[in-house]
Amino acid sequence: MRVYFDYNATTPVAADVVEAMVRVTRDTFGNASSVHHFGQQAKAIIDEARSAVAALINGDPSEVVFTAGGTESDNFAVRGVADAFEATGRKHLIASAIEHEAVLNTLRALARRGWRTTLLPVDESGVVSPERLREVMTGDTALVSVMHANNEIGTVQPIRELAGIAHEHGALMHTDAVQSAGKIAVDARALGADLLSLSAHKFNGPKGAGALWIKRGTRIQPILTGGKHERNRRAGTENVPAIAGLGAAAQLAAHKLADQQGQVGVLRDRLEEGILRSVPGTVVNGARTSRVPNTTNISFDRVEAESLLIALDLEGIAVSTGSACSSGSLEPSHVLRAMGLPPHRTQNSLRFSLGMFSTVQEVDRVIDVLPRLVEKLRSLTRTGRSVELSSPHERG
Ligand SMILES: Cc1ncc(COP(=O)(O)O)c(C=O)c1O
Repeated sequence: MRVYFDYNATTPVAADVVEAMVRVTRDTFGNASSVHHFGQQAKAIIDEARSAVAALINGDPSEVVFTAGGTESDNFAVRGVADAFEATGRKHLIASAIEHEAVLNTLRALARRGWRTTLLPVDESGVVSPERLREVMTGDTALVSVMHANNEIGTVQPIRELAGIAHEHGALMHTDAVQSAGKIAVDARALGADLLSLSAHKFNGPKGAGALWIKRGTRIQPILTGGKHERNRRAGTENVPAIAGLGAAAQLAAHKLADQQGQVGVLRDRLEEGILRSVPGTVVNGARTSRVPNTTNISFDRVEAESLLIALDLEGIAVSTGSACSSGSLEPSHVLRAMGLPPHRTQNSLRFSLGMFSTVQEVDRVIDVLPRLVEKLRSLTRTGRSVELSSPHERG
């Protein structure tokens, strides 16, 4: 039995989505910009997908721009607003310290271009405080970017309040909803955002397909220039099968959201409680109240998360650490570090993320296997023996 509990990395593509993509690839090859029948057929597929994405986030279809995924949507939001504001002298950007690299590294790139950037701290629960935002806002701030749900710990941020503060100071509000769209209700308007990113492969759609919702009237420049696609906002011949897949995934998510949210939440809670009960020295990282229902991030005292991840993989169980492998060394998670966790806790945490196809049998298998693996790794550490385990995978 293989268990996949890494839905925040990516999700299996739903059967309806595969079918839609195969059908479109086979039957609708036209270029959506062509005026003839073949082009118009492709355009109709794109229009339908645009309406489905808009419905998922309570936007208007005209406000949805298709992109090649969450990274491009985040780049478009941050760089596009920076480009639009550069000449006005508003040259300050704010983001939370726990954003995805797609936002953080874009801020770093703009800092090299002369922009002032501020990273907002989070408290130990992993939540951004509106008061802290108020303290760092200035009349020069062009954009505030704070993610809706965090990919590592699942905490949901108070976007509505943060957006209110950004707007009081004349700045725009972007939210990266890559880890919330399709998992919980996301209403772009109710959140008060001006820009919202989402990505198909996080909710059972294909990789390389996403969207940026841009509220009508928002000042933004395109980052991809070329033809007049996407109402001059994103040049390039549309990837119609990928867009159809995103549309089908959005439709499926909207349809199943209410039931799914409850079911996944019950499984996650069963897993979390089972682990806390059966493995001594475990603690949940981040707020347990304001969280997406599919994610839990747990610290295992006196265990290297990387070793536990490999031991679990050898048992057929796929989970994740927040650590990133850069230049051959393990970097502790920037999210857990920003929460102020001590170094040993940033290196002994695993993320379990569930989804549409998760089952109670999978949850119980993990609860069954974990105590033995943790005990084994702890005893190896106690006796000073090497805890290296061979893995079939290379990590990037
Ligand atoms: C919060 C968040 N933003 C952005 C991204 C990037 O999305 P994509 O993989 O579609 O480029 C991810 C993916 O892990 C994410 O979790």
